[in-house]
Amino acid sequence: MSVSEDNIFLRNFALVLAGLVAVAVLLVVFANVFFGMDDPARQELAEERALQNFEPSYAVRLTGEPAPGAAAADEEADEVVEVRSGEQVTQAVCIACHQGDFLNAPGVGDVAAWDERIGKGWQTLVDHTVNGFGSMPAQGGAATEEEIRAAIEWMVEDQTGLEIPES
Ligand code: HEC
Repeated sequence: MSVSEDNIFLRNFALVLAGLVAVAVLLVVFANVFFGMDDPARQELAEERALQNFEPSYAVRLTGEPAPGAAAADEEADEVVEVRSGEQVTQAVCIACHQGDFLNAPGVGDVAAWDERIGKGWQTLVDHTVNGFGSMPAQGGAATEEEIRAAIEWMVEDQTGLEIPES
């Protein structure tokens, strides 16, 4: 390579570099103008989104207390607490045992098995479910008392046609 070829190469190379730098600077300016954080509303939204990313979408509740995320969501929803239907609670919580005689649990819609138990009356059945009874562990952590009552109503009264006496 001759000296003049070197010079031409160096000049072209410097031009390309300068061009790339100019493009990079333009992109930075462009990004700041259109997506900049100057706007406080935009900044607030970005922070909110970032915080949302830290929140788990699901959590396992081991106590009767609502999960912190759920509690906050409930507050946002103006104290509207969603109560699950008896069928929903049964399918979510009770069905693991109350289908197919697991540990001798009376099955959903099993007339004979429930007929022997319902004489105890509503309050006893609800209390037994909330606090645990025989080989059934306490269910109070998985559902509210209201939801448990609804679940029993669905699992027993709706599905067997039997009627549980008030106690
Ligand atoms: C881990 C298994 C398990 C889960 C979950 C479970 N149960 Fe049970 N349940 C049982 C067993 C076992 C029995 C029978 C207990 C016994 O007689 O020893 C039973 C009995 C009952 C009884 C009759 C109690 C009595 O006094 O005779 C009711 C009512 C009941 N369950 C409702 C529910 C409801 C409602 C849910 C859901 C919220 C639920 N159970 C979830 C295992 C379970």
